[in-house]
Amino acid sequence: MTNGTESTDRLASAPELRCASIFEAANSGVPAKSTPGESAAPRVVRQLTPSDAGAYLSVRMRALRERPLAFSSLPENQPGLAETMAQLAESQERCFLGAFQDRQIIAGIVRLARYPEDEERSHAYIAGLYVLPAFRRAGYGRSLMQAALEWARAQNLRKVNLAVVTEQEPAIRLYESLGFRTYGLERATFSRDGRTFDEYLMTREIFVGSAV
Ligand SMILES: CC(C)(COP(=O)(O)OP(=O)(O)OC[C@H]1O[C@@H](n2cnc3c(N)ncnc32)[C@H](O)[C@@H]1OP(=O)(O)O)[C@@H](O)C(=O)NCCC(=O)NCCS
Repeated sequence: MTNGTESTDRLASAPELRCASIFEAANSGVPAKSTPGESAAPRVVRQLTPSDAGAYLSVRMRALRERPLAFSSLPENQPGLAETMAQLAESQERCFLGAFQDRQIIAGIVRLARYPEDEERSHAYIAGLYVLPAFRRAGYGRSLMQAALEWARAQNLRKVNLAVVTEQEPAIRLYESLGFRTYGLERATFSRDGRTFDEYLMTREIFVGSAV
C-alpha cells in the first residue's frame, strides 16, 4: 500500500472539519489468536490522537525500515513530530488507527483518508497498514482494517480504495478476505535499488446499513 503517503499528504492540506469522536473497536469481533511471545492481554484498536504521535512515529519508522519494499515512502521523508501531531488531530477528513495490546503497547497502525475532491467526497483511501513482527498472525492486521472500514461507514463513505505492491501476498490475502477486489494494475509505481515495483489497485464498497 504505497500511495497512501501522497493521499494523506493531500489530505493534510484539506480543510479541517470537526473531529470524529474517538472510535474504539475492541477486538473488532475477531478472536485473538495466540502467538509465541504474545500474552492474553486484550487487543484494542482505537483512533490515535496527537498524544500518540511519538508512538505512532516510532512504529511508522520501523515499518519503513523493516519493509521498505511494501511502502513507497522513504524514512527520510516521514513528517516529524509536530506535523504528525497535526495529522493526528481529530478530523472527519482522515483517521489514524493504532492497535494496542493491553492498551499500552502499540502493535500496529493504519490510516484512512477521505479524498478531498468534491466528486470523490464519499470515497476514501486506506494506507500504511503495518503490524510489528512480534504481533503478526494474531489478528491485529484484520482488526485494524475492520476498524478503518467501520470509521468509513460511520462517516457515510461509500467506497474505500487502496494500492498494494503485487509481492505483498499476506496483505493481499487480508484485503481479499475483507471483500476488497482488484480493479487494476499500476506498473512501476516506484523503484528501489534499480528494481521497479507494481501495485494492485483494490477497492471495496460500503453498503448503507450493512456490517463491515
Ligand atoms: C500484512 C500485515 C499487516 C498482516 O498483519 P497481521 O496482523 O499479521 O494479519 P492477521 O493476523 O490479522 O491476518 C489476517 C489475514 O491476513 C492474511 N495473512 C496474514 N499474514 C499472512 C501470511 N504470512 N501469509 C499468508 N496470509 C497472511 C491471512 O488471510 C490472514 O487471515 P487468516 O489468519 O484467517 O489466514 C503484516 O503482515 C505486515 O505488517 N506486513 C508488512 C507490511 C505490509 O505488507 N503492509 C501492507 C502494505 S499495503
